[in-house]
Amino acid sequence: MSGTANGSVTVTIDGSNKSMKLPLIHGTIGHSVADIRKMYGEMGIFTYDPGYGGTAACDSKITYIDGDEGILLHRGYPIEQLAEQSTFLEVAYLLLNGELPNASERKVFVQGVTMHTMLHEQIRAFYNGFRRDAHPMAVMCGVVGALSAFYHDSLDINDEQHRRISAFRLIAKLPTIAAWAYKYSIGQPFMYPRNDLTYPANFLYMFNAVPSEPWQPNPVLVRAMDRILILHADHEQNASTSTVRLAGSTGANPFACIAAGIASLWGPAHGGANEAVLKMLAEIGHVDRIPEFISKVKDKNSSVRLMGFGHRVYKNYDPRAKIMQATCHEVLRELGIVDDPLLDLAVELEKIALHDPYFVERKLYPNVDFYSGIILKAMGFPTSMFTVLFAVARTVGWISQWKEMIEDPSQRIGRPRQIYTGPAKRDYVPLAERS
Ligand code: ACO
Repeated sequence: MSGTANGSVTVTIDGSNKSMKLPLIHGTIGHSVADIRKMYGEMGIFTYDPGYGGTAACDSKITYIDGDEGILLHRGYPIEQLAEQSTFLEVAYLLLNGELPNASERKVFVQGVTMHTMLHEQIRAFYNGFRRDAHPMAVMCGVVGALSAFYHDSLDINDEQHRRISAFRLIAKLPTIAAWAYKYSIGQPFMYPRNDLTYPANFLYMFNAVPSEPWQPNPVLVRAMDRILILHADHEQNASTSTVRLAGSTGANPFACIAAGIASLWGPAHGGANEAVLKMLAEIGHVDRIPEFISKVKDKNSSVRLMGFGHRVYKNYDPRAKIMQATCHEVLRELGIVDDPLLDLAVELEKIALHDPYFVERKLYPNVDFYSGIILKAMGFPTSMFTVLFAVARTVGWISQWKEMIEDPSQRIGRPRQIYTGPAKRDYVPLAERS
């Protein structure tokens, strides 16, 4: 625990003489927390917080979000500056190590990741076990989990060198695994990684190229890919990151933990929203139909939501959405898509929603997914690959959070409590006596 303790909150159980002071702990910035760790021992009560909306489960130095102000910082650096001036691998170094690398540290790190991009050749055969129409996220869960069966030499979580190599392996191999999942689904040959290309260029290469044709990286698309990866790299204790931490708290190996994170990300409430935005735009079909759609969204009796709007934490513009919007325009311009009906619809929808009292009063602003689907579609990614791309990027955040947890001496196994509401103790009834 590295926050500073100052002040307290007093808790009293009504009608009893039981009372205790809960220490208040303060981080560098952000909300303070009441430390309830001794509450059960002293008061005999737990806290109740389904969804953990009011619970800090760890202390972390990696990412800070101020949802009211729309601020996202990685190790203190604003996401806008990182997206504009940094690269995905540099951000990966920052998240993992706490500081931006100097020139030689950066070179060593990039080299370290690059040297791990190939997969064990037997993993190639592993793909053949999947149906061709398997969802690529199913393939990701399976293949990433299986990495622990192929790389025994980096599984000792108590060995710093093993942790470092596992991090390199995961960051380096995820694009290869993802691109092969796609190639497998369309029946094209797997493309082996090219270490002369940058991380985002190599990913686009493995995804787009075929052995029979030359392939040249498009710098605008490579930069867009790098930026999309940066924007998804980490987002503090969201569902998938908390899943990785919980799995890791048991001492499970990092490959198994990241596979757990991928499974958690798969859900439509988490990683699948950009796919839902595209579906929604297609359903609306034309700008003229926006008012009709907006009134459906506002109708209390309908379950229609404006996808890509609203966020559990951001009650302001998601800072990533602004960068995504700018990137979207750059990509479409580069690809010569002058009049994209989906983009026109999205821009108009955003304009209307930002001024409509329903959205203003509820603080519903565009989130990172509002524009990312349009970009990815324009770049040729099928919708089933959107969450896979998210997983590739988020692997950096997951492994950084996992490493931070393992290196924290106060770390213990995650074990939430419950309120039991089932039957109280009762005796077994023999079958013949049951009605
Ligand atoms: N469209 C219309 N109304 C909405 C929306 C939306 N997208 N989001 C929230 N609301 C309304 C709710 O109906 C509710 O209204 P009420 O007070 O009249 O009942 C109010 O705003 C609060 O909504 P909650 O569901 O309590 O907000 P919560 O923080 O739980 O939900 C969530 C956040 C799930 C992201 C929600 O805003 C949503 O469903 N958005 C659309 C899906 C989406 O874009 N998800 C991506 C999130 S970003 C990511 O995971 C990478």
